[in-house]
Amino acid sequence: MEIKVLQEVNDLPCEVLVINQFEGEKTSQDIANTYAIDKDHFEGKFGQTYLLHTFGKIYADKILIIGFGKKEEFNANKMREAVAKAVKKLQQIQAKNACFDFDINCDYGKSAAIGAMIANYAFDKYKTQKATRLDEITFAKFSEAEVKEGIILGKALEFARNLSNEPAEFATPSKLAEIASNLEGIETKVFDKEAVERMGMGAYLAVAKGSARPPKFIHMKYTGKNPKKKIAIIGKGICFDSGGLDIKPASSMLTMRDDMSGAACVLGVMQALKDLEPEVEVHGIIAACENMPSGTSYKPGDILRAKNGKTIEVDNTDAEGRLTLADALCYACELGVDEVIDIATLTGACVVALGTIASGVMGNDDEMISRVIKTANDSGEPAWELPMFEDYKSSLKSDIADMKNTGSRQGGASIAGVFLKEFVDNTKWVHIDIAGTAFLEKPQKEFIAGATGAGVRTLLNYIKNS
Ligand code: BES
Ligand code: MN
Ligand code: ZN
Repeated sequence: MEIKVLQEVNDLPCEVLVINQFEGEKTSQDIANTYAIDKDHFEGKFGQTYLLHTFGKIYADKILIIGFGKKEEFNANKMREAVAKAVKKLQQIQAKNACFDFDINCDYGKSAAIGAMIANYAFDKYKTQKATRLDEITFAKFSEAEVKEGIILGKALEFARNLSNEPAEFATPSKLAEIASNLEGIETKVFDKEAVERMGMGAYLAVAKGSARPPKFIHMKYTGKNPKKKIAIIGKGICFDSGGLDIKPASSMLTMRDDMSGAACVLGVMQALKDLEPEVEVHGIIAACENMPSGTSYKPGDILRAKNGKTIEVDNTDAEGRLTLADALCYACELGVDEVIDIATLTGACVVALGTIASGVMGNDDEMISRVIKTANDSGEPAWELPMFEDYKSSLKSDIADMKNTGSRQGGASIAGVFLKEFVDNTKWVHIDIAGTAFLEKPQKEFIAGATGAGVRTLLNYIKNS
């Protein structure tokens, strides 16, 4: 879809003119006020739509009114949702182009562009019958810079969603490494199995052992102009999570191609940095592998040694993500960065706690945690802090190693958090659990079922604001 910006759309022929109506107020078009409001009593409640044929009375064939709700409650997040609703409606009537001319005082061009791109997304690469999409939209009044930034984020989202929607047969560790190596404006190093062994990443390697596909440890680097800060972002990159020898039931395994959504997010973010040009040094790190059952799999009872020397007794091979992240966290801390953020489809317990509505956030620095949560909420990706009480650690006690990889099922998201903390030195660190938010089994708000690109907007905005 092409997105354009114009100062005035007046008299520009288009199929559908999209305008807004705040609850209880008039719109900018007389014809809409007469028919929709006066005659049909359209109220303009948030997200309501009204379609009107103009029969040549104005330059557009149709007018679509989108309800903006109460004026005092309107904000950037509502703009994104409203534009997404309008785009879904436009798809329903099979419109190919539309002009959005909103009567508002704020420049929400970034949110508007993101909303349009989220709603116009479909993963139809493997379908013979392609989805109905808009080809072109024009925004009036918004600043070009705002819309442009929205498009950068929108593209990063599409990139991440595509990758995480792909079957595991496509998005293999080697494929992720290849994609990372081909990113423009990014320096990429890929470590193969032997190199990973030399680095002493015994936890990550153990997870990779059962798979016929070799692990790839990926380190990408973006260097902005006059970097003020160094940030490492780590994405969980389990290309398929069968559970390993502690194999998952069929129904839980069905969507486990999404277990590299953290990695897809990091790749989407890295891909966008050359366009966003933040003044930051960003390291993108992915310890990619599959978690498979086989004759060479790691086993319950095995003892692993992570990069920082700590030993781990394998209690459950399905708690593989934290093992790969453990070594990736050690690696990131050794880079001497100011901050580390990991993003991972880590625990079913986080899904139980927060559902598909919000991601779980933990960390070792209150100020950084609040900044990540605020950025997430402002970005339209709700996040909620989960506790990291010391006492959770007792559940990871092992008789034969420094710790086990799992403890009690109760409080599972926090237990995973305190496990990860063992592999972070005194670098500021935040962990984002996207197990519930990365992949939807049914449509939710502006998203269709499937991958959501969770974390892309949060991380890009966080980096931009750093
Ligand atoms: N990838 C899963 C977590 C997950 C669950 C992501 C549901 C998305 C949706 C993770 O590797 C896992 O299997 N976690 C286990 C941990 C348990 C064995 C302690 C879980 O949550 O059941
Ligand atoms: Mn697992
Ligand atoms: Zn997993």
